[in-house]
Amino acid sequence: MNSEFDNRVVEVTDDGSATIFLPELDEHYHSVKGALTESCHIYRDCAFMHRSTDGKRLRLLEVGFGTGLNAVVTAMAADQNHQVDYFTLEKYPVSSEMVAALGYGAHTDQSLLTAIHAAPWSELAPITPAFSINKIKCDFTVDALPQNIDVVYFDAFAPEKQPEMWLPEIFARVYEAMSSGGVLTTYCAKGVIRRQLEAVGFEVERLAGPVGGKREILRATKR
Ligand SMILES: C[S@@+](CC[C@H](N)C(=O)[O-])C[C@H]1O[C@@H](n2cnc3c(N)ncnc32)[C@H](O)[C@@H]1O
Repeated sequence: MNSEFDNRVVEVTDDGSATIFLPELDEHYHSVKGALTESCHIYRDCAFMHRSTDGKRLRLLEVGFGTGLNAVVTAMAADQNHQVDYFTLEKYPVSSEMVAALGYGAHTDQSLLTAIHAAPWSELAPITPAFSINKIKCDFTVDALPQNIDVVYFDAFAPEKQPEMWLPEIFARVYEAMSSGGVLTTYCAKGVIRRQLEAVGFEVERLAGPVGGKREILRATKR
């Protein structure tokens, strides 16, 4: 994978929201069947809203901040009863010009989106009383992970495109970083990934995918 993606291209997906296509990887940042629909279903609903808070502020880890779409839909869902500190890892940040070209303000909350992108890197920045974000520029495959994580959005590029993000030792590190009762979701429902998650100790469910999108997704729970 190159250190920069100079050829990033904005494409509109089937639900009208945009995504980025990377010609050099032949890979999209989201489902072409609907970027916003995917974010809302797989990450916000099946992971963040699914995880009971037990009366505490949740700690969430996102693998791949990318466009910030998962972050803004989570910020919109967070409230007094479902508060979150959102740690998000990114090795190749997207430019502000590309963020503007995606036009997510028309589909989400423009002021939250602006605040999330304007937040400094490497510190926990309050965006609303219920949602703070720490954007961490790092390499997920080698750098230390935040600990005591309750929710993981595992949103790496596909295993065929970036196999180093989907290794058994990677899942073992993520498992170790999570609290008991923690949940991880991913769009990837491949049998080999499900078995790797089970092998490190997760209990794994196959759930229905987003409307119009993938047939199944995975949710892994640390008991
Ligand atoms: C599928 S996209 C994530 C989409 C994102 N969650 C969103 O809402 O737009 C995968 C992301 O992982 C990032 N990435 C790739 N390799 C990485 C690495 N080794 N460490 C951290 N991030 C990485 C990519 O730059 C890309 O932004």
